[in-house]
Amino acid sequence: MLRGDKVGLRARHEEDIPILRAELYDDVVNASRAEGGPWRPITPGSKDPRLVVDDKNQGLVQFSVVELDGGTLIGTATLWGIDTHNRFAHIGLGLLPSSRGKGYGTDVVAVLCHYGFIVRGLQRLQIETLADNAAMLRSAERNGFVREGLLRSSAWVMGEFLDEVLLGLLAQDWKQESKQVKKQVKKQVAEV
Ligand SMILES: CC(C)(COP(=O)(O)OP(=O)(O)OC[C@H]1O[C@@H](n2cnc3c(N)ncnc32)[C@H](O)[C@@H]1OP(=O)(O)O)[C@@H](O)C(=O)NCCC(=O)NCCS
Repeated sequence: MLRGDKVGLRARHEEDIPILRAELYDDVVNASRAEGGPWRPITPGSKDPRLVVDDKNQGLVQFSVVELDGGTLIGTATLWGIDTHNRFAHIGLGLLPSSRGKGYGTDVVAVLCHYGFIVRGLQRLQIETLADNAAMLRSAERNGFVREGLLRSSAWVMGEFLDEVLLGLLAQDWKQESKQVKKQVKKQVAEV
């Protein structure tokens, strides 16, 4: 399992599937906003690739996210579109409604960066999110992602076209960011 400060990223377990289906994918608005495609119901027991992991797919790594304290399932995290030639991938995450706004999203992004840059040796990570998704934008920017572009009217979501923001983070900037955070922490500790 990969560990952050508050969350763990582990393999998908069979018992995660009904919870994720009910709380993330059966929610039409959440799914329409997060997935970049039309919502469709997932039949219980189906092998939908968002829920049932295909370990042979080398371009995609899917995690279940759990609280480190107690191991409760709180969501999903994904490294997708892994391009081993250009050493680049996208990240995605979705938390159960009761687990949002508690700092878990920021920690999940941090763990995905560690996985992408350190475990997988990637050079660049990318996020696309709706321009009004303040929590996702903030979770990304807190980890050093920078806004690289605005994709105007790129997403059809529940009856309207919305803009998306493209954010990117390079390995060298992430390391610098981590060093700066460590320096700040050392300084704060020294001042106490
Ligand atoms: C987007 C998501 C992953 C963010 O995770 P989270 O745990 O809710 O976010 P955090 O608690 O780490 O908060 C991150 C920052 O956003 C802010 N924030 C959280 N919820 C917010 C909201 N509803 N509106 C505005 N700001 C918000 C927090 O205050 C925090 O800011 P700070 O770092 O300045 O304190 C989560 O809300 C989620 O799963 N949403 C639904 C699915 C989704 O949108 N996925 C992303 C698709 S690209």
